[in-house]
Amino acid sequence: MEMPDSDSEKEKPPVVEFRNVTKTFDAGTDRAFTAVKDVTFKVEDKPDAGEFIGILGPSGCGKSTILRCIAGLSPQHPPTSGEVLVHGENVTEPGADRGMVFQDYTSFSNRTVLDNVSFGLECQGVGKKDRHERARDWICLLYTSPSPRDRG
Ligand SMILES: Nc1ncnc2c1ncn2[C@@H]1O[C@H](COP(=O)(O)OP(=O)(O)OP(=O)(O)O)[C@@H](O)[C@H]1O
Ligand SMILES: [Mg+2]
Repeated sequence: MEMPDSDSEKEKPPVVEFRNVTKTFDAGTDRAFTAVKDVTFKVEDKPDAGEFIGILGPSGCGKSTILRCIAGLSPQHPPTSGEVLVHGENVTEPGADRGMVFQDYTSFSNRTVLDNVSFGLECQGVGKKDRHERARDWICLLYTSPSPRDRG
């Protein structure tokens, strides 16, 4: 039997934990629709293990609802009942500790391309000059990379 190296390792909370999570959109109306019902799972924080965890299921089964509850994004978050925890803490809002690639293309229509690309850096408090410089570098990298066709 493998013994944990230390007490702190033994007590590490799961990366993500759902406890009996149910999400009903438009609850209390005649349009009420339960997208996920009584979902319980844990993604354990395994020491020294890098993992990719997938959620598989047919279209409409609730994958994005679950991901957006983890990200703290409305209207999926907050769940109608149950608890969503990340590293042992209840998710109350979005945070820079959780990244998300959206299912659909998204950008802020009220911002320039440069301000869209540098938005993450802005959230981290990086100054305008620095974040614009870094965003320009990434944009250049993207547009100067050979296209898949040129790569042969
Ligand atoms: N804001 C909303 N209001 C009402 N119903 C919603 C809302 N968002 C999602 N739903 C419904 O909840 C169900 C689960 O949607 P969800 O987007 O989580 O599915 P999904 O598994 O990610 O599907 P896909 O594979 O098509 O992306 C679907 O029936 C969807 O129509
Ligand atoms: Mg989806």
